[in-house]
Order: sequence, then structure tokens, then C-alpha cells
Amino acid sequence: MTTEAPGGSDEALRADALAGLTARPKTMPPKWCYDEHGSRLFERITRLPEYYLTRAETEILAARAPRIAADTAARSLIELGSGSSAKSRLLIDAMTALDAYVPVDVDPAVLRAAAAALRRDRPGLTVQPVVGDFQDRLRLDRFARPRLVAFLGSTVGNLLPDERVRFLNRIGDAFEPGDALLLGVDLVKDPATLIAAYDDAEGVTAAFNRNLLAVLNRRLGADFDPRDFAHTAVWDPGRERIEMRLRAHRALTVKLPALGLAIHFDEGEDLLTETSAKFRRESLEPELAAAGLRPRRWWTDAAGRFALSLTVKAG
Ligand code: SAH
Ligand code: AVI
Repeated sequence: MTTEAPGGSDEALRADALAGLTARPKTMPPKWCYDEHGSRLFERITRLPEYYLTRAETEILAARAPRIAADTAARSLIELGSGSSAKSRLLIDAMTALDAYVPVDVDPAVLRAAAAALRRDRPGLTVQPVVGDFQDRLRLDRFARPRLVAFLGSTVGNLLPDERVRFLNRIGDAFEPGDALLLGVDLVKDPATLIAAYDDAEGVTAAFNRNLLAVLNRRLGADFDPRDFAHTAVWDPGRERIEMRLRAHRALTVKLPALGLAIHFDEGEDLLTETSAKFRRESLEPELAAAGLRPRRWWTDAAGRFALSLTVKAG
């Protein structure tokens, strides 16, 4: 967990671009959307009328933070993909035994701003930000026990199913008795609501999606013209996930000098930029249990759109 460029090193970006843009279908890992501009766009997404996820999760956290604090008695709060840490404040304020808050994010700019704001507003709290990829090995041993690992916002849905299994196993393996995982997950619901959340009227999600092309242009010297690509959000009913794609309006070729490559897109061809899985309690809890994480609580917002799951290391 040492990278300082948003998303990871140029070398890691080159490797992902080489593998992803030469694959069929073309694809890129979603973490590269989060440079400073991408993180700002994501913050705007959280305030959109169509993007109910953040409001629903905030509603649950506001109601349940005292119970989470009492159940876990955690001394360390480690938050993965923490972003602005806005919702985390509800947890931090309820956790009376807390010694340290450890936000982990792949974007150093969002992490710096969140840490500075928290140190200013909560002077008694130790904030230990870590720039890094939550898919790397998780080192918990330096943090006081018991620990609460929080993974909010349904970011776990941005992992592919095999990545999710590896991720949960790594958490289960890193945990010691008393450690707990707080996982925020968006729930399966009617496709129209889901699609609107990922294709808002103002076009902020489209700008967030196209920002990936700006990152590839800036860091790899590529010559994508974002206007050549349409933002699309598609619901896959079989896999119960939203797929965000960039669809080429016309046949075109993009140069990537850093890779010595030219990539051809057919007219209508998609670049898959993010999958966002939606969850059901009856399939998620067995996945958690298979990773050694015993379900302890399951709360939803009043409208049943979003859930928070609290699991503990199985004894
Ligand atoms: N937890 C916040 C932010 C969610 S947005 C919320 O619920 O609102 C997803 C966050 O995860 C972004 O801040 C992004 O920079 C970060 N992120 C995405 N992929 C990551 C990865 N592989 N490792 C670490 N952080 C990642
Ligand atoms: C961070 N993640 C959970 C968001 C999501 O809902 O999948 C990212 C996002 N993509 C488009 N809008 C929001």
C-alpha cells in the first residue's frame, strides 16, 4: 500500500490498459476513474436525486451507529475506499472506544482532504490515512484490537464475483477474534430505478465515466476524444448488475504511445468501465459465511433499497 499516483503507478495503469483494451469485450478496472477530478465527480453523484444509495446508507448509519459501536467496541476503524469519509463521521462519533481511524483509498487527493477535514473537526481523533488498493493484502496487525473494517457505499459491488470471493477471504484471514466487518450493499430492485441511478438527467455519471478516457490521455498519452463515446448504463438481469460502458459512436482508432499500441473500436463497440453488482441477503450472507464471517446484523433503510451487514470472525 505505497502508491501515490491516483489508482496506482503508471506501470500498473499500463499493465491494466494493455490487458483490458486488447481483451474482448474491452474493459478497464473501475479504480482508474478516481483521480482528483473523478473523486469530485463521484461526490456530485452522491447528491444527485437519482442516486439514492448514499442517502439510504446514511439513513441506516444514523439510526444504527450506536448499536454498531456497542456490538463491536472497536478501538480501530479501518475504512476501505473511504473517499470523502462523510458518512464515516456518523460511525466515528458513536464509537466511544475508538483510538484510530484509518481511511484507505486509491486517490491520494481525496484522502488528504478527508484526513485534513477530520483532524480539524475531531482534534482528539488519531487519523492514519493509507494510500493503497483495497484488493492488495490487508495488514491489520498494526492496529489496536478489536477492529472494525468498514466497506461502505456498495463499493464491494464494483468487484467482479471472483474478485469479491478473494477479497472477502482476505478479510476473513486477516481477522482475529472480535474483529468485525461492516459492509454496505445496494439491493436488487426494479431496473428503472437502478438504471436512472447510473444515467442521471444532469449527465454527471456520464462525465464520471468519460473521465477514464481523460486519465488514459493524460497518463498514457492516448488520444481518446471523449465526444466519440456515449455513456451507457445497462442492467444485466442474469448477473443482477449494472454495467457502465462507453460506446463508440463510430469506427475509430486510438493511439496509446506509452504501450506502443493502436486500438481499434468498431462502430457501436463498448468499453466496459464498471460493473456494479446488486445484492440479496439470501445469497450474500452465505458468501460472507464461506469467508469465515458470521452474520450478526442486517439492517435496511425504511424503503428497503440498501442494506448494512455486520459480520464477525467466526470462532
Ligand atoms: N466510501 C465512500 C466512497 C465510495 S466511492 C462512499 O460510500 O461514498 C469509491 C471510493 O473507493 C473512491 O474514493 C475511490 O477512490 C476508492 N477506490 C476505488 N477502487 C479502489 C481500490 N481498488 N482500492 C482503494 N480504493 C479504491
Ligand atoms: C463507488 N461505487 C459503489 C459506485 C457505484 O454505485 O457502483 C460508483 C458509481 N458509478 C457510477 N455511479 C456511481
